[in-house]
Amino acid sequence: MGWFSPDMQTMEELFMHGLQDIYYAENQIKKALPDMVSKASDPELKKGFRMHLKQTNGQIKRLDQAFKKLKQKPKGTKCPAIDGIIDEANEIASEIEDKMVLNAALIAAAQAVEHYEITRYGTLAAWAKLLGRSDVARLFVANLKEEKATDKKLNAIAKRKINRKAAARKKPKMTRAQQDAMLAASTGIPAV
Ligand SMILES: [Fe+2]
Ligand SMILES: [Fe+2]
Repeated sequence: MGWFSPDMQTMEELFMHGLQDIYYAENQIKKALPDMVSKASDPELKKGFRMHLKQTNGQIKRLDQAFKKLKQKPKGTKCPAIDGIIDEANEIASEIEDKMVLNAALIAAAQAVEHYEITRYGTLAAWAKLLGRSDVARLFVANLKEEKATDKKLNAIAKRKINRKAAARKKPKMTRAQQDAMLAASTGIPAV
């Protein structure tokens, strides 16, 4: 977007930007999911992420159809919001050693993604209808329903077992050598 010649003057242009934004986001999610599948240790969660990847491919196809109906070439535009959610998830995951706690973190990150998608599809569906494109709105509504269902499923897994199991995990006991090293570091005396 330029300062002197704004790229988005009309509602149609704002709508197209939204479509390109979610197209980019879905493709980033598609790239991030295999890593989430491999990081998840709970079989149900692993399966859920795998299913979500399949679903994401279908959602991208619907977006391709939306571009086609609008006589536009499918194209993404960088979305800092989804990049931020994915970056934060990777950062947190890299700091967690306990498998169960990691599962809880992965679900929370996946739900953040779902909520992001829900807000975007809700907006796009409303705007498409407003602009007289109910045919395109239907495609967004189909994706929106899937995102909501995925969010519900993740919520159920988290509540039923993952969060409780994660909360039951204790901090691993430090070895004597680790305790000495920590004490030495805090007092500034080198450990021997
Ligand atoms: Fe999606
Ligand atoms: Fe999703």
